[in-house]
Amino acid sequence: MKFNLALIFSIIIASGLVSFGFTYYQISTERAKLNNELEAKIKQVVQDIYQGDYNFLDSISENNIEKFAKHLSVKYGLKGVAIYGNENRFIGNQEIAQFKGHSVDYATQSLAADTAFGNFISIDGKETYQYIQPITRDHLAASSVILYADAEYIDNIIGDIWFRNFLRWFFQAFIVSIITVLIMRYGIFSPINRIVNWVKSARMGDVEELEQNPPAKFLAPLHKEITHIARAMNEAKAAAEEEAKLRSKSEAIWTPERLKIEMRNLLHNRMMVVVSNREPYMHIRSGKEIKCIVPASGMITAMEPILKACGGLWIAAASGDADKETVDENNRLRVPPEEPKYTLKRLWLTKEEEDHYYYGFSNEGIWPLCHIAHTRPIFRIEDWSYYQKVNEDFANAVLEETADEEQPLILIQDYHFALLPELIKMKKPKARVAIFWHIPWPNPESFGICPWQKEILTGLLGADLIGFHTQYHCNHFLETVNNSLESRVLWERFSVKMGGHTTLIKPFPISIDFTMKDLNNEEKKPDLELLMKDHGIKTKFIGIGVDRLDYTKGIIEKFLAVELFLEQNPAYQGKFTFIQIGAPSRTSIKSYADTAMAIEKEADRINMRFKAKNWKPILLLKKHHSHAEIQPYYKAALFCMVTSLHDGMNLVAKEFVSQRNDNDGVLILSRFAGASQKMQGAIVINPYDTEKSANAIKQALEMPAEEQLSRMQSMRKEILSNNIYSWAADLLRTMASIR
Ligand code: G6P
Repeated sequence: MKFNLALIFSIIIASGLVSFGFTYYQISTERAKLNNELEAKIKQVVQDIYQGDYNFLDSISENNIEKFAKHLSVKYGLKGVAIYGNENRFIGNQEIAQFKGHSVDYATQSLAADTAFGNFISIDGKETYQYIQPITRDHLAASSVILYADAEYIDNIIGDIWFRNFLRWFFQAFIVSIITVLIMRYGIFSPINRIVNWVKSARMGDVEELEQNPPAKFLAPLHKEITHIARAMNEAKAAAEEEAKLRSKSEAIWTPERLKIEMRNLLHNRMMVVVSNREPYMHIRSGKEIKCIVPASGMITAMEPILKACGGLWIAAASGDADKETVDENNRLRVPPEEPKYTLKRLWLTKEEEDHYYYGFSNEGIWPLCHIAHTRPIFRIEDWSYYQKVNEDFANAVLEETADEEQPLILIQDYHFALLPELIKMKKPKARVAIFWHIPWPNPESFGICPWQKEILTGLLGADLIGFHTQYHCNHFLETVNNSLESRVLWERFSVKMGGHTTLIKPFPISIDFTMKDLNNEEKKPDLELLMKDHGIKTKFIGIGVDRLDYTKGIIEKFLAVELFLEQNPAYQGKFTFIQIGAPSRTSIKSYADTAMAIEKEADRINMRFKAKNWKPILLLKKHHSHAEIQPYYKAALFCMVTSLHDGMNLVAKEFVSQRNDNDGVLILSRFAGASQKMQGAIVINPYDTEKSANAIKQALEMPAEEQLSRMQSMRKEILSNNIYSWAADLLRTMASIR
């Protein structure tokens, strides 16, 4: 209000000053013009009196002065005409008496000087113009004729100008003030008030309120920023509250925020680069649209939350058919697409590179070599050459991206990049390099069949740190090195010294993103009938399995156990369905194509055996499912069955547990998966033992609620205290402690 008044006052004063200045100038010129006109008119009258048709002066004599004065006044519209002279006589028409006092002195002077004279005189506030002209006529001795003209109209005109200009100024000031106040109110104060309200909502953490109040178009960017701030503040508040809660419980649960702080302390702003073969987001074409999907990979499930929490750069091979269209000129893009937190850099592989390095050496060679799941590894020299080449290409990419960093932190993922640590260290000795082997490491005899085992071991030992899921895998690795390389294995320190460089070998059991908010999640279970309706199945109980279609996952063994269970427990026929979500994987490899076919055949065979209307024992969903699509099945199932014949960790087991916020449900877990070492609440099975696996299904379906609760609670506690953030913190601290 005060501001408005001040503004209006300023406008009035400013426009008033301008108006006054202009009016003053206009009046001065107008007055001068009118005065001149009046003077010119009087002079003209004098002219007439002297020379006009009626040469009055010649006809004037002492006796008829009064008569002529009257006559002239009427003729020229004058107030009066007087003749002055002859012993101060002042004669004229009647009206001149009032002027005498103002004229005599001037007339005397004019006569003496024998020159005409004009001036304005004011009588009772009325202006009159007097003009004195000496006359020379024989019969009129030493006289002057004085003409009195009305000059009041000049003041009236001037007054009128003042008045009109005042009105103009007043309306101008009024309208400008109104418009200014309206602009201030609706153009400035209103948006500012809205901003104040947004900031208030942001402070209160009311994101919903913020989102419901979209701003005027020009304020949209500000609104977006404020909404982001509110969200970030909410997250920070939640994190702080969670931290406080945990502190009071004196527990040390790791959260994304805590990891971020830890990372800042440990890395001192050094750049973090993650390298993997599989990219965390791939863009694929779906009709005319481009879809972004998260590939099925335990490695991605684990690493993505870390990058989301800490930022950094992730270098990976492009794999989607629309990947090229979604990167910038440096082959980079910010991800996750909905809320970018880190940068993904894509590297393009040729068809040959993909065939030999990825399908060939990595997945037909090292994968079966490390899993020992009765699929013979195949080693081809050509595959090995491409494996070396692609490792070199990735090393160059890492070096290029970290050119400005003396000591970047490089976290290499998995068996696709065994040679990368040494290649990077050779060029950048001060870089801190760790490689995490997400799959098992076999015993030295098994690994020894690899024709390039020395090269692979040497490449790996270029790293400062090699991580495995379990101590068992670390031991196998150290034994392999001991048996085949000229190096010193420091058993007491779990390190290998080779050529002056020491590598620490340590277990880091990988995990998932599970924090207090997931523990206290109150999401309800989906409606089973509805969930199954889409598949045309009516059933009372479901079990769930989620795997890539891979021969190491024991999917056929799982189906055989389901078959035996139904055979031994006919009461469950028509009431129990096992749902297997199977993401197609590495389908260009024969052993994978065969496995996928065999799995489908086996499901069909069993379904045929127990055939019934609107029901089948096995529902095989052979397609890629997003995390969000899998969740309802995790929640609705009575148990989850993981039957890996050999697995580094297996994060499906942990993801199932993470979704059981009602603390019910049962996990059946293969003893050959790394996860079985810590998930004490699971029913641990040997997937090759069909009898026992079938019993485990029965046990899971009939387990009393209290037993389910205590088992599930213990497993949820385990994944809470050993989540992916504690995994990353442990790895980073270990890296930082290496001298
Ligand atoms: C395993 C590996 C990952 C890999 C994933 C999927 O979990 O450890 O590195 O990404 O399988 O395999 P793919 O060949 O599709 O990347």
